[in-house]
Amino acid sequence: MKINIKDVLHYENLKTIKYTHLATTIVYARAIAEMLGYSKEDIHVIEVGASLHDIGKSFIPPSILNKKGRLTKEEREIINLHSVIGYEVLKSAGYSVNVAEIARDHHNPMSKNNMAQIVRAADIYSAMREERSYKKPKTHEEAMEVLKSAKVPQDILNALDKKYGKKQQARITQGFATRPAIA
Ligand SMILES: [Fe+2]
Ligand SMILES: [Fe+2]
Repeated sequence: MKINIKDVLHYENLKTIKYTHLATTIVYARAIAEMLGYSKEDIHVIEVGASLHDIGKSFIPPSILNKKGRLTKEEREIINLHSVIGYEVLKSAGYSVNVAEIARDHHNPMSKNNMAQIVRAADIYSAMREERSYKKPKTHEEAMEVLKSAKVPQDILNALDKKYGKKQQARITQGFATRPAIA
């Protein structure tokens, strides 16, 4: 059977990924990688992986991906395939192993790929901190609890806390307070 790419590629699916969510996922992933001392080159790989991690969603039938209401077990399994589809697509498009593995493992708490763990943490943190039509944004502390229960590795938790936690916020506010007023 000949497969027509137009029948399996649903580019419009990517529109359902909120632009702000994608952008902040990249920002948070970069911040974590910087805190953990990754090289410039590796940070670039992480950013590319973060921006493409959900690319596999463009191969999921929109009727399932955009379904309102409860998903069946089969539908849930089909949606979950977006990770491995993303991996295959990125690999065959010539992206590096790490970029492809970020897509493959971005929902996998057991992943041995630390870059994928960073993007996974950034993805969850972004979703928690963001306002959605059905929910208020969580505080940094509430988001950290969610990350902990999602088994995000401790060094990544520490990095996020250092960057966005209370102490850091206090320092930023203090910085503003002591800045001389513009004459
Ligand atoms: Fe995903
Ligand atoms: Fe996401």
